[in-house]
Amino acid sequence: MSATEYFDDPTVCRLDTQRKMVEPCSIVIFGASGDLTARKLIPALYHLFKEKQLPPAFRIVGFARREKTDASFRAELRTALDQFSRTQPVDDAVWLEFATHIVYCLGDLTDPTAYQKLEERLTAFGNPSLRHNLLFYLAISPSQFGAAVEHLQQAGLLSRRPTNGWQRIVVEKPFGHDLASAHALNAELTRYADENQVFRIDHYLGKETVQNILMFRFSNSVFERLWNRESVDHVQVTVSEKHSVGGRGGYYEEAGAMRDMVQNHILQVLALVAMEPPVSLEAESIRDEKVKLLKSIRALTPVDVARQVVRGQYFAGVMDGQPQPGYRQEPKVRPDSNVETYVAMKLLIDNWRWSGVPFYLRTGKCLPLGASEVRIQFRPTPNVLFAAVCGSKLDPNALTLRLQPNEGISIRFNGKVPGTQVGVRPVRMHFSYDSEFGAYTPEAYERLLLEAVAGDATLFIRRDEVETAWHIVDSIRRGWEGKPLSNREFYAAGTWGPMAAEELLAQSGHVWRDPQPVK
Ligand code: BG6
Repeated sequence: MSATEYFDDPTVCRLDTQRKMVEPCSIVIFGASGDLTARKLIPALYHLFKEKQLPPAFRIVGFARREKTDASFRAELRTALDQFSRTQPVDDAVWLEFATHIVYCLGDLTDPTAYQKLEERLTAFGNPSLRHNLLFYLAISPSQFGAAVEHLQQAGLLSRRPTNGWQRIVVEKPFGHDLASAHALNAELTRYADENQVFRIDHYLGKETVQNILMFRFSNSVFERLWNRESVDHVQVTVSEKHSVGGRGGYYEEAGAMRDMVQNHILQVLALVAMEPPVSLEAESIRDEKVKLLKSIRALTPVDVARQVVRGQYFAGVMDGQPQPGYRQEPKVRPDSNVETYVAMKLLIDNWRWSGVPFYLRTGKCLPLGASEVRIQFRPTPNVLFAAVCGSKLDPNALTLRLQPNEGISIRFNGKVPGTQVGVRPVRMHFSYDSEFGAYTPEAYERLLLEAVAGDATLFIRRDEVETAWHIVDSIRRGWEGKPLSNREFYAAGTWGPMAAEELLAQSGHVWRDPQPVK
C-alpha cells in the first residue's frame, strides 16, 4: 500500500494536510561520494519520488572531490540503489525519470571557487526556485562544517535572512564528541545560518515507531493516566544490536556506545517516553518539552556513576554458531582498548511525574538479538488475594513498545489458566504494525528528508537539546576517566552483556526483560 492510499481510510485523522506542500528546490549533498548518499539518501529520495512526494521541480546535486560526470554519478547511484533500495526490484521507468533530476558538481570543500561553480550550476537550471530554495545536506566530517557554511555564505548561497526562497542545512551525527565541541560546532554553524535553518538529524526520530510514542501517549486516554510515578514501577529502554563493531573500529574507538547511541538515539527515546504533553504539535513546543525532560534527569557525580552506570566490552564468543572475535581484535581497535561496546544505566528524573521511578537504559553490540524496545513496568498489585498467594510469581503488568523489529505494542497482564484447577499466568495482547497496516514501512530517511524539504523541524534536534544531552553524557564519561574496565565489565559476544548490568537492577529488586525473538 502506498503512503497516499493509507489516508483514503475515513477513520484516519490527518494532521499534516497543510504542511506537506513542498516547494521546488535543489538538494545539494556534500560528501556525495560517501556511503550515506549511496545507502540512505538516494534510496530515500528515490522512494519519495516514486510516491510523488517530492515537488514537481527539483534537483539533487552531488558535490564531492572525485572526478565524475553526471552520467557516471547516476550510474553509480543506480548500482547502489539496486543493492540498498527497500523495494526490489528498482522500477526502471521511475529510476530513469528520477535520474534526470540528479547532477554532479565536482569540487573541493575547502576551495571557494568550487562554490562559485556550484552557484553557476544552480543558476543554469533556469528556474529561480531551484537556485533559491536550497537544502544543503552535510554528509561530511564535522570538522568541515565550518568551512562549508562559510564558503556557501560567501558564494551567496546561504544567508541568515534570505530575501528570496529558503536555505537549510542538514547535519548528521556525531554532532561533536562532548559538550564543548558540540558548542563550538553550533557556534560555527550559527555564525552563517540561523538556528531555525539548521536541521540536526537523529535517524531514530524518523522511525515510525518512535514517532508513534507521542501519538500513543497523547491520543489515548487509557494509558496516559497511568504514565506516572503512581502507577509505573520502572521503565526499561533496550537498544540491543546483534552486529559487531566490524569495519567501524576507527570511528568506534573515538565514540564508544555512550557517544554513538546514548547521547542521541537513546536519550531521544527517553525524552519522548517521559516528557510532559507539549502545548501544541508545533516543533518548538515538542522540542521545549524534550529539553525540559532532559534537564530534569538527575546529574550523576563520579560516585553515582560507579553505582548507577555499567560499561561493557565484548570478548570473543559465538554468534549464530560462528566464532566472533572480541572487540580488541577488531580492525583499527587498540589491543588494550577500554572503549565500551555496551552501556547500561539507571537514571532518575527529578520532576513531579517521575520522582523515584528508575529509568534503566542499555545498549550494546554483539548481543544475542537486534531489537529496540521500551518496557513500562507497572507497580505490583497489593499483597492480598492473588498476590498474597502467588508472591513474586504474579507478574506485574507491563506495556512494551517494540520499536524494531516486529514493530508493535504488547500489553502483558494476568489471566486465569483454563481448567478445573485455579491458576494465574501472564498473557499478552499484541498490536503489530505489519498485520494492521501491511508492509509499508518507509525508511527513517524518507520522512526526515521530506520534513527538511518542507521546513518542519519537529523531528530534528535543537541546539539546546543536543547540548543538554552532551551534558548528561559528559558527566558519565567523567566518572570513567582513568578507570580501565574491570573484569565484571566484559561479556562474551552473543550474550546479554556483563554481569554487572544484572547486578545494577538487582540492587533495586528488578531484572532486565530481554527482547524476545520474532516467532
Ligand atoms: C547509528 C550508530 O547511529 O545507529 C550505529 O552509529 C548503530 O552504531 C545504528 O548501529 C543503529 O541504527 P538502527 O536504525 O539500525 O537501529
